[in-house]
Formats: sequence, structure tokens, C-alpha cells
Amino acid sequence: MTHKTPQFITIEGIDGAGKSTHLARLAERLGAGGRELVQTREPGGTELAERLRELVLGGAAQDGLTEALMVFAGRRDHVRRLIRPALARGAAVLCDRFTDSAFAYQGGGSGVPWTVLQQLEAWACESLQPDLTIWFDLEPEEAARRRAAARAADRFEAEDLGFFVRARAAFERRAGEHAARFVRIDAGQSLGAVAEQLDALLRERGL
Ligand code: TYD
Repeated sequence: MTHKTPQFITIEGIDGAGKSTHLARLAERLGAGGRELVQTREPGGTELAERLRELVLGGAAQDGLTEALMVFAGRRDHVRRLIRPALARGAAVLCDRFTDSAFAYQGGGSGVPWTVLQQLEAWACESLQPDLTIWFDLEPEEAARRRAAARAADRFEAEDLGFFVRARAAFERRAGEHAARFVRIDAGQSLGAVAEQLDALLRERGL
């Protein structure tokens, strides 16, 4: 199958799957050859969205729907102020998490109905979808072991195994619903094997 060179790329996965480890390498590859690369993240990416991020990760919301409204409010600002203008001028955009994380965490994890999230997505993103989503998939038990070895920090990293089992299942559901843009990477492999798989993927997509 041939693919158009992706311009808007997102990376996803449950906490502990190791996406941050591979982010710098991805950014380096995407920015090679002088092409403009905008590297950003969610929740966050604009001043407003970063303030919302602090509140969300601090556990300010009383329930999942409030949290969903907060992340989608930030997302709308991020899409309008940063992502769409960057894409319009021809830059590549690499975003650490995007809408799929809301389906995984607020949806799968906290139980906000899929249809509610689809509605919020339609309002906030106005049909903007990534061209390519790299999903670092890992067994929730293994992810929990990796998180325990690192510093436990925010509201989500403190969640129990069941939350991440549901979040992972929700990523899987999104991957099925958006099969054309999703690529699953087995994050249970060695770092070297994951890096090789990423390199092969980027080559295959003309990046
Ligand atoms: P993360 O991307 O893991 O950043 P860091 O590596 O700095 O911890 O943290 C963001 C957290 O926010 C992560 O636990 C997933 C969560 N999240 C949501 O709950 N909903 C969302 O829509 C997004 C984008 C992230």
C-alpha cells in the first residue's frame, strides 16, 4: 500500500509505554532536510491549554466529563492557534498525544461515553485528524512496572491497573475505527527493536 507523506503526526500509548523515549528521535527525523517541524503536546501546546493541563494533571476535575471538557477546551485552542496555522504554512506537526488519549483516558479509563467524546471531538477539532498516529502499545502490567521504576507524578500515573487496562482497550478500539492512520508498535520489544521499527515506518512513509 502506498501512503501520502504524513504532515500531522501524533504519538499515543498508556503511561509507561515509552513514547517519550522515542520522541526526540522522531523529531530529529521529521525535521531533517530543513523542513519546518512544530513539536507540541497535549494536554497543552498553547498558553491556555498549558494552564488547563496543569489543572487536569493536578486532579482538579471532580469527574471524567469535567476533565473531558477541560482537555477538549485546550485542544480547540491548540488546534486553532497552533496546529492548523502550522499545517497551513506547510510545516510538519509532531504532537505528543492528541484526541485518541481523551478516548483512552476520559473514555476507557473514566467511563465518559464514546458518543459524548465523538461530539466533543467534532466541536473542538472540526474534523481535523492526524495523518499518522504511532501507537506504542504495551501490556498494562508491564507499563505499571515501568512506571513504578520511574517517579510517580500526576493524577493519571496514580491510577490503578484497571484504569490502564480500560485505557488500552480504548486505544485498540480507536485504532480499529481509524485503521488508515493508526500504526501499532509493540512497545514490549527492546528499545533497539522499537527504534528500528520506527525507522522503517518513517522510511516507508517518505520521512
Ligand atoms: P504524558 O503525555 O504522559 O506526559 P508526561 O510524559 O509529561 O507525564 O501526560 C499527559 C497525561 O494526560 C497522560 O497521563 C494522559 C493524560 N491525557 C488525558 O487524560 N486526556 C487527554 O486528552 C490527553 C491528551 C492526555
